[in-house]
Amino acid sequence: MAGKTCNILVTGANRGLGLEIIKQLAEKPCPGRRIFAGCRDPSKAEGLEKLSKKHSGVIHIIRLDVGDNASVLEAAKQVSSIVGGDGLNLLVNNAAMMYYSNMKESVPSEMENTFNVNVMGPMRMTKEFLPLLQMAVKKSSESSMSCRRAAVINISGMMGCIEQVPATYGLFPFVGLPYRVSKAALNMMTVCNAEEFKGDGILFTLLHPGWVRTDMGGPDGKIEAAESVSGMLGVIEKLTEEHNGAFLNYKGQPMSW
Ligand SMILES: NC(=O)c1ccc[n+]([C@@H]2O[C@H](COP(=O)([O-])OP(=O)(O)OC[C@H]3O[C@@H](n4cnc5c(N)ncnc54)[C@H](OP(=O)(O)O)[C@@H]3O)[C@@H](O)[C@H]2O)c1
Repeated sequence: MAGKTCNILVTGANRGLGLEIIKQLAEKPCPGRRIFAGCRDPSKAEGLEKLSKKHSGVIHIIRLDVGDNASVLEAAKQVSSIVGGDGLNLLVNNAAMMYYSNMKESVPSEMENTFNVNVMGPMRMTKEFLPLLQMAVKKSSESSMSCRRAAVINISGMMGCIEQVPATYGLFPFVGLPYRVSKAALNMMTVCNAEEFKGDGILFTLLHPGWVRTDMGGPDGKIEAAESVSGMLGVIEKLTEEHNGAFLNYKGQPMSW
């Protein structure tokens, strides 16, 4: 993504992988780039605030709760007023939540809340930002799919791989059932979106960030956020229409479903 102007929005940008994505994007020289950092409560996002001051005029902090229709609508209006006719080139649906409960412990409201954020969140974001993504396609000088034209990256994870459950269930007993189910659903939604919007020229790809030492990944994660994000940004930069509907890890290797 270096060297090309593009407008990027990342959800859940106040901590963890989201904050690291904003940091690494801001550090890549790209004149005219606007980075929108969505977070639920900007007044508590000290790290993000500091970063936005360092990269003033590049990082725009947007109040955004992906679990709330009105908040997503308001964020879309705000971003639209800044990007104007340039549209949005890259939407990274990163925000997610997890309960640590299995079937016996879990209650239906946990499944409902998890779906509201992890599945309906990306759904709301994609629907409300679609006009801006379509605008970016029209404005782009590129004729094929890429993150410089218009792309939606949904951050999924290995815990959503149905085929891998027998191998991962015992290894990650703390990963809650609602979370696993929500990521499998996100995978299905993304593959369907890839088909629905291929005529519009918008690329949809799923990424697995690895097992990362964040609040969600915990201290035993295998890699730091910096390694995961630098890998994912490298992968995003090289995506083409061949990767529309694909599920890749942060090294660019295909994931099983
Ligand atoms: N870490 C891993 O090992 C790992 C592995 C596989 C996949 N992933 C995926 O990677 C992504 C990032 O994970 P992470 O490890 O960075 O998690 P994290 O450290 O727990 O951060 C989660 C982020 O999502 C935000 N968020 C939660 N609910 C939200 C809502 N309703 N609206 C807006 N933002 C909301 C949080 O904001 P608040 O501070 O406001 O709560 C926070 O910024 C997630 O999609 C996760 O499923 C992570």
